[in-house]
Amino acid sequence: MHDGLEPSTYAEASVPATRASTEMSPQTETLASSIADNDMRGRVCLVTGASRGLGKATALGLARLGATVVLLARDERLLSAARDDVAASSGNPHVSSIVADLASFDDIRVAAQELRARHEALHVLIHNAGVNPTKRKLSADGIELTLAVNHLAPFLLTHELLPALRRGGHDHGARVVTVASMFERFGRIAFHDVQGARRWIGPLAYTQSKLANVLFTFELAERLAGTGITANCVDPGLVATDLMREHVLFRPRWLKAVWGRVLASPTAGARAAVHAASAPEIATVTGKCFDRYGREVRTSRQSRDPATRERLWTLSEQLTGATFTAT
Ligand SMILES: NC(=O)c1ccc[n+]([C@@H]2O[C@H](COP(=O)([O-])OP(=O)(O)OC[C@H]3O[C@@H](n4cnc5c(N)ncnc54)[C@H](OP(=O)(O)O)[C@@H]3O)[C@@H](O)[C@H]2O)c1
Repeated sequence: MHDGLEPSTYAEASVPATRASTEMSPQTETLASSIADNDMRGRVCLVTGASRGLGKATALGLARLGATVVLLARDERLLSAARDDVAASSGNPHVSSIVADLASFDDIRVAAQELRARHEALHVLIHNAGVNPTKRKLSADGIELTLAVNHLAPFLLTHELLPALRRGGHDHGARVVTVASMFERFGRIAFHDVQGARRWIGPLAYTQSKLANVLFTFELAERLAGTGITANCVDPGLVATDLMREHVLFRPRWLKAVWGRVLASPTAGARAAVHAASAPEIATVTGKCFDRYGREVRTSRQSRDPATRERLWTLSEQLTGATFTAT
């Protein structure tokens, strides 16, 4: 059990029908009904950070489409409860889980091994797990936590699962979907102090990691061109989840109730990832970012800079020790 890990306080089942008006828009309803037609039977999908929030809602969305879904998170108790909930709510028996702490390179490698042992091919890899701490913390490998979980974990996990993704790419096509954020716009990759060892500011560490998600996606898309594996990222919008649980404005119960009404629900936010993972019309689209209405989003200028992409890639290889070989 990890410190302070409790079930989500934004219970999805209690989402009132009258919440955030954006969820009721015709665009949202159109996307929701077109997603419902996507057939994911026979596709193996791994969703990280699936014990709560967007990840759990994404796993449920995919399970409802008939996919074989593997939920990954670090806390066994929360993860088992989420897995059982997803299986029961979707009526899909092909739902399982893998416990792994993405703040540990060893755990990531073991989790990938476990996935490969269970499934020959992987068709969808959703990098959703994320943290937004208020104090500088270090991963098991001594790396600043936001960078480690939000960026390096997707980098290493993709590397470790590439053989399974390639096999997925050969049969149905495979998709790597990374949950970024509109806050990538405020991000800068501080190459001179990427782990904030000299000066750490939480929001800067977070926006840097979300920009890294987009840079990673675009670079990966290019490197995997022609392999049958696509790489896209998504912006779910502002969603009522536990991501901000350490922040003072999200702690009091009454404020949580306010956020729960004002922000989008996890189900609505998760449509971004479920659409990117399942929509047949974007099966071969790669190197893009989509929002929760299924629209393509134009990301920041810095996210499209090839030199920054390449520099971040090299740094990520150095920090994780993983080298992507030519396709
Ligand atoms: N909420 C928003 O408004 C919003 C907007 C844009 C983008 N996003 C992105 O959406 C993603 C999901 O966030 P959320 O809003 O759903 O937050 P959340 O409710 O806090 O969920 C985060 C998930 O990541 C898992 N996780 C955290 N650290 C982990 C680790 N070391 N190893 C394994 N799993 C770990 C958590 O597991 P535990 O249960 O063990 O903590 C949880 O399942 C993040 O990448 C976030 O940046 C969120």
